[in-house]
Amino acid sequence: MTRLEELKGKIEAREARVGVIGLGYVGLPLAVELALGRFHVTGFDVDEWKVGELNAGRSYIPDVKTADLAQVVASGHFVAATDMSALADMDCIDIAVPTPLSKFKDPDVSYIQASTESVRKTLRKGQVIILESTTYPGTTRELMLPALESTGLVVGKDFFLSFSPERVDPGNAVYGTRNTPKVIGGITPDCLAVTMALYQPSIDTLVPVSSPEAAELVKILENTFRSVNIGLVNELALMSAKLNINVWEVIDAAATKPFGFMPFYPGPGIGGHCIPLDPFYLSWKAKQFGFESRFIELAGVVNGQMPHYTVEKVAEALNRSRKAVNGAKVLVLGVAYKKDISDVRESPALDILQLLSKKGAHLSYCDPYVPEVREAGMALIASPFSAATLRKADCVVIVTNHAAFDYEMVAREAKMIVDTRNALKGHNGRKIVKL
Ligand SMILES: NC(=O)c1ccc[n+]([C@@H]2O[C@H](COP(=O)([O-])OP(=O)(O)OC[C@H]3O[C@@H](n4cnc5c(N)ncnc54)[C@H](O)[C@@H]3O)[C@@H](O)[C@H]2O)c1
Repeated sequence: MTRLEELKGKIEAREARVGVIGLGYVGLPLAVELALGRFHVTGFDVDEWKVGELNAGRSYIPDVKTADLAQVVASGHFVAATDMSALADMDCIDIAVPTPLSKFKDPDVSYIQASTESVRKTLRKGQVIILESTTYPGTTRELMLPALESTGLVVGKDFFLSFSPERVDPGNAVYGTRNTPKVIGGITPDCLAVTMALYQPSIDTLVPVSSPEAAELVKILENTFRSVNIGLVNELALMSAKLNINVWEVIDAAATKPFGFMPFYPGPGIGGHCIPLDPFYLSWKAKQFGFESRFIELAGVVNGQMPHYTVEKVAEALNRSRKAVNGAKVLVLGVAYKKDISDVRESPALDILQLLSKKGAHLSYCDPYVPEVREAGMALIASPFSAATLRKADCVVIVTNHAAFDYEMVAREAKMIVDTRNALKGHNGRKIVKL
């Protein structure tokens, strides 16, 4: 029996042990889905608090139901650990660690390197390693492969290596890990085959591509597509303000075209661990080949202006009631980077709060998902969402359009409103400033 057949057999019989490194927004849903598919899964994380919570059956990620987690913990199909030496016992290892940018917007692949090093230390024949983290084309082959082969083991023969990007969309009630098609690229055809075998029971549709590089670029194309299109409508919003045209009405009408148009909406800026960061992984790589990716850079500039533009709108709103930003009470509605989730990473709300704070505004915020904000020298506790809270503010800024907010109440009670999300669709008047 070949090593490929042996590993595939173990997977089919659910005897293969699966390790998932990084139990965050990506790794935890994947680990739980695999455990629900009757694999024995060990989740590895450096964060002891997360490991403790997960072993107690408590999910800290809204998209992972505590009931599902508790079930797989109780049945013994999922356990979390900080001790990486147990990686030696795993047959399949998924890596889902962060891929941030450095201060200079260069890729910070140190988390991938650290996890590769953990895998390398205990690499043995018959293991398959799959990178899930979003990264530039070439990471799997140029960064991980040499480290793993430095053990003397050979890829495609002794062990297998693939890249399969995660497409999780936090807060999406329709598409989760199971029903989102999954792209896979293996270093060798056998690497691809064994990775497909692992995911086949847990993911409805698998999309094989010819190489890890193609799979790496697929993910960045998807995120760049969003960044560029959001940049386009953000620019349109700035332009429409000059032309005195309601950009929201224009986009809604354009979206009635049944082909060849997909609506994107302007907003206070982009956030999260993906769209503001991932395109720069690609432009960094392209630069090594003397290629300037102009769309990526331009979208970054336009989207990066939006928090500043939002603050200008706050000044405009306050001006209408003869007030300055300095000394005004400004209430921000929503600080998560998008609606109905708790993630504040790269959230434009943080920039907006900081810019307003520098201008002397007295700040407060409401967000049912984010109890406190402790970032960049700010320490704010969420205010209760109520008529009294709305009435107290000189200006209310709708930054994140959580469904939990009562927008009729906002329109009725607030003195002045800046609406960056068209949450007050249908409401007009002197006290409402729209993007
Ligand atoms: N969040 C999303 O919506 C999303 C969607 C698709 C892809 N991605 C990509 O997936 C990757 C992970 O993102 P995330 O949002 O899950 O990040 P996250 O910060 O939520 O989770 C990463 C986890 O890895 C752990 N970790 C860090 N270094 C480690 C190490 N050396 N060993 C073990 N654990 C380690 C952290 O403690 C954390 O729990 C990134 O590349 C991201 O771009 C994210």
